[in-house]
Amino acid sequence: MGELFVFDHPLIQHKLSIIRDVNTGCKEFRELVNEVSMLMAYEVTKDMALEACEVQTPVAKAKCYHLAGPQLAVVPILRAGLGMVEGILDLIPTARVGHIGVYRDPETLQPVEYYCKLPNDIEERLIIVTDPMLATGGSAIAAINFIKARGGKNIRLMGLIAAPEGIEAIQKAHPDVNIYVAGLDSHLNDHGYIVPGLGDAGDRLFGTK
Ligand code: PRP
Ligand code: URA
Repeated sequence: MGELFVFDHPLIQHKLSIIRDVNTGCKEFRELVNEVSMLMAYEVTKDMALEACEVQTPVAKAKCYHLAGPQLAVVPILRAGLGMVEGILDLIPTARVGHIGVYRDPETLQPVEYYCKLPNDIEERLIIVTDPMLATGGSAIAAINFIKARGGKNIRLMGLIAAPEGIEAIQKAHPDVNIYVAGLDSHLNDHGYIVPGLGDAGDRLFGTK
């Protein structure tokens, strides 16, 4: 079973409370989602392998460490997952970025896939799939299916807020994928929105409502 990590770091929790606030505007919302994504990425990547190296400082040789690989791929689920990419790239600028287009049909709540473009060597990379909202889990499950069908194996899922129903569904469909979120909320409402959640993440990020 994939593990669920809910980050309780004070900075993440503080920023998440502003993100949730209905009075937070588009610009601040976008900035804070990026900041929280960067803080979360720090934790999500904390077990990356290192190898020893030697660096000449102005004073002497120092025994140091650099990343040994695998290289990283960030794969946002369009559109709202895009909001989490920049923060991760600020931390790990060598990461490649794939894109997966999935939207949730508002009537059936079923995921509809419309786009997929991943790095060629996706099977060799550590993959972080991003989507701020894990509601029914359908979009994340479909996106991870896409990635696995193209050879991706080493996959982690990073979101901002999840509903218990979504976590359960994702863990059942993809027991090899660890899930990282900043908040685990109470339930879904009749429209499939997370309660209390933050509303529609895509609309709040891109100002489409
Ligand atoms: C939202 C959100 C997730 C999905 C979560 O996307 O960004 O991708 O819903 O719901 P689920 O877990 O029930 O699948 P939406 O379909 O609104 O598309 P958008 O990102 O283009 O706004
Ligand atoms: N998608 C969102 O953007 N918000 C929700 O609460 C659920 C799905």
